[in-house]
Amino acid sequence: MNAIVKQHLIDPEICIRCGTCEETCPIDAVTHNDDNYVVDAEKCNYCMDCIAPCPTGSIDNWRVVNTPYSLDEQFSWEELPEQEDIATDEGAAATMEALEDEISALLAEAHKGTGGKPVAPASAAKPSVNLYSRSKPAIATVQGNLRLTEEGTGNDVRHIVLDLGDTVFPVLEGQSIGIIPPGEDAGGKPQGVRLYSVASARDGERPNTNNLSLTVKREEVGVCSNYLCDLKRGDKVQVTGPFGATFLIPEDPAVKLVMICTGTGSAPFRAFTERRRRTMPSVKGGLTLFFGARRPEELPYFGPLKKVPPQLMTQHLCYSRVPDAPKEYVQDRMLTCADELSALLKDDGTHVFICGLKGMETGVDESFASICRQSDLDWSAVKTAMRESGRYHVETY
Ligand code: A2P
Repeated sequence: MNAIVKQHLIDPEICIRCGTCEETCPIDAVTHNDDNYVVDAEKCNYCMDCIAPCPTGSIDNWRVVNTPYSLDEQFSWEELPEQEDIATDEGAAATMEALEDEISALLAEAHKGTGGKPVAPASAAKPSVNLYSRSKPAIATVQGNLRLTEEGTGNDVRHIVLDLGDTVFPVLEGQSIGIIPPGEDAGGKPQGVRLYSVASARDGERPNTNNLSLTVKREEVGVCSNYLCDLKRGDKVQVTGPFGATFLIPEDPAVKLVMICTGTGSAPFRAFTERRRRTMPSVKGGLTLFFGARRPEELPYFGPLKKVPPQLMTQHLCYSRVPDAPKEYVQDRMLTCADELSALLKDDGTHVFICGLKGMETGVDESFASICRQSDLDWSAVKTAMRESGRYHVETY
């Protein structure tokens, strides 16, 4: 019998295949195939560097085993295996207990400052995940490709509608899908899957349509973004997913949502807003949006946002590049709304969602900390409690 080990595993049902773990691992213990990201038990040294950066918490899974699961076994999984009952004698039980303690201590250290493993909102619906993979993608047809930013602004952001036809592809607001761009990378390998947040509500762009939309910004050297932004009506697209099991809209109408985003980070909040508008039109004052863009002409969905009734959503649109106006980021506007935000933070029904540029994360965090200091709240404690109860969610890139 092999020595008992506590094996580090990635939950394929929760993983969104963003590749952060593989990028973070300093010893290349994380690898992937077309279907799953996995940890090589022979290489993993429990440094825990991958734990905090994982946006979903799928990285934080462990099984005590006699024989570690091989890479091939892990590649084939659609869900994690149950913990096997392997403690057959007192010695083995003591070894397991010691391993549990050791890993728990390392994990506690890794989670410091992150507030712990992401948790879905208590009232969120149960998402379907990983129904389609690179080896078995869904095929969608482009229904529309509309430029959202004004021509000539140099910032080409598109609203792309994908029709799933007869394919069953259930998504919840907040989930992402993968797009497989055609062709090969510089190394001759098939292009990697790129993730995009769904911008439409679960029942489609219009209620009861089997389609979904994405918000895509053309990046100068972006393989997938250029592929998507150039799509024409009728083109076929290979889609994987859906992904994501924690950044999900709460279903409880009493919940208050604070949504903070920049640029294309607005996609999930368009979905959230549509869901609330369709299912809870009479709920007043439940949504607060902080949205940062360069100028109104470059703010995705500027027109439709203007039509959202103020009783449904309070909007704070912040601009960084309006000529002759001071630069304002979302975190700056938050400080001017300190009373409103501290009241929301004191309310156990408030959920905070942040989506967009990575750089905004620190700024938003500092603004929350400053707002809390002014109102005798301990931001670190508030944030940890919110995360643990599925009320604080960050998706940045
Ligand atoms: P900036 O003018 O400094 O680039 P877009 O995706 O269209 O560029 O929009 C992103 C918006 O987010 C811009 O207004 C951009 O401002 C702003 N931004 C850039 N860095 C940060 C940051 N660290 N915190 C908050 N907002 C940011």
